[in-house]
Formats: sequence, C-alpha cells, structure tokens
Amino acid sequence: MTGASGKLGAEIALAVAGQGYSIFFTWGHSEQKACETLEKIRWVSPESQMVQCDVSKVGEIEKAFAAFSSHFDRLDLLITSASNFYRTDLLDVTEADWDSLIDTNLKGTFFTMQSAARIMTRQPFVSRIITMTDISAGMVWRNYAPYTVSKSGIQHLTRIFARESAPKILVNSIAPGTISAYPGREEEPEADLLGKIPLQRFGDPMDIIEAIRFLMVSEYITGQVINVDGGRLLY
Ligand SMILES: NC(=O)c1ccc[n+]([C@@H]2O[C@H](COP(=O)([O-])OP(=O)(O)OC[C@H]3O[C@@H](n4cnc5c(N)ncnc54)[C@H](OP(=O)(O)O)[C@@H]3O)[C@@H](O)[C@H]2O)c1
Repeated sequence: MTGASGKLGAEIALAVAGQGYSIFFTWGHSEQKACETLEKIRWVSPESQMVQCDVSKVGEIEKAFAAFSSHFDRLDLLITSASNFYRTDLLDVTEADWDSLIDTNLKGTFFTMQSAARIMTRQPFVSRIITMTDISAGMVWRNYAPYTVSKSGIQHLTRIFARESAPKILVNSIAPGTISAYPGREEEPEADLLGKIPLQRFGDPMDIIEAIRFLMVSEYITGQVINVDGGRLLY
C-alpha cells in the first residue's frame, strides 16, 4: 500500500491488517506517523514492513518493490493511496504545482500499478488493485485543476488496467467524498457542504473501509469506481 502515513491511509492499512493481511506500506515525509502506524499494525501482523518512497520518482517505486520482494513472496492486494492535495487557482497554476500534483498522483499511481501488475500477472491466483481517487474526479471543482485531473486520470487508469490485466487482476477504485472524524483531524469541513450531502453527514473512515473490504472479497467486479460520498454526487 502506498500512503499509509496519511490520515485515511493509516486507518485503511490498520483495517486491512485486521483482515489477516501482512502489510508492506510506503510513506513519503511523515516518518513519525509512519512509525506509529507500523507499530499498531504489528500488533496484529508482526511481519509487516514499511519503506520510505517518493512515488513521484519511478526509481524510488522500483526500489520499494525490490524491498517488498525481499520480504514477501506473494502480492495479493495493492492499494494506491499516496496523494498530494492542495488548492491551485486556475490562472496561477505553476509548472511546479502541475508537476508536483500530477507526478505524485497520476504518474506515481501508474508506475506503482505497473510494478504490481508485473508481479501479479505471474502469480497462479487472482489478485486485486484498489486505487484511491476522489469524487471530484467527476466534478468541476474550482481551483483544484491539477488535483482533479490527476484523480480523473487514475479512474481511467483503473479501467485500462482492469481490462488489460483481466482475468488475473481485479482493478477497482474507491472515490471518497468528504471524510471527517479520523483521529487528528485539524479542521472541520465547511458547514455549508453538509447541506449538499443527501445522507446528511460527512463520511467516516469506516465507510471507506467497508467499501475496501467489499472489493477485497468480490469476484465479479472490475474496472469500477465506487463513490463513497453519502450521495454528494447526486446533488
Ligand atoms: N481524507 C479525505 O477526506 C479524502 C477525500 C477524498 C479522497 N481521498 C483520497 O484518499 C486517499 C487517502 O487520503 P488521506 O486522508 O490518507 O490523505 P493524506 O492524509 O493527505 O495523506 C497523503 C498520503 O500520501 C503520501 N504522499 C504524498 N505525497 C507523496 C509522495 N510524493 N511520495 C510518497 N507518498 C506521498 C503521504 O505521505 P507522507 O505524509 O509520509 O509524505 C500520505 O501518506 C488519498 O488518495 C486521497 O486523495 C481522501
């Protein structure tokens, strides 16, 4: 899994470990959060490992997969959660903004999926890839062009890998809406956003985890995006 040092990412990694999986995860800059997450994961899955990896660099992804292969001899599930997110006013987007957001989110996800698929297609069993995207991939958000384009691109990559890797790999995406209530959340989402969510609450990490657990066991779903957003896209 990439990005298990993230707010939601850490909760997902813990939940997957709780399903009996050994976890190999990456972090970028948040070493302390990564160490805390690994410590918790090792209570249920002592063989789990982590490695620092800047997913915007293909060489670092390759090194992370080499480290993975030195610890584990099978890959059942890849979750791509590493993601960069910040506001970029359309007329002020710089080349550095574009590269940072697109290289981390879209390029990083592509090369991580490619490395995983090379392993998975050789294995004599069906495995799974779950990409983490965002409902904004299907919306026209103001001031987030590189981010939303990156997530839209990942959703398309999800369909491409699903078709080209079938039937060996089931490839799907989870697109969260606004997720609140995870430990350490510093700011609450804007109150007027709640009025645009038909189910009248922000999402909880458990809402995402339930969707991931569903995809971990489903056997006839591939190339799909599950929007976990309380109906926000209906608004
Ligand atoms: N939380 C939400 O409300 C929400 C809503 C919609 C979609 N999502 C999606 O759900 C996923 C998980 O969200 P989250 O809450 O865990 O996000 P987050 O708290 O922003 O964490 C982002 C993660 O990506 C990693 N990362 C960022 N740049 C990286 C780079 N260049 N190389 C390697 N790792 C990098 C971070 O690692 P370091 O901190 O160690 O650098 C961290 O683990 C993301 O894909 C996000 O877009 C979340």
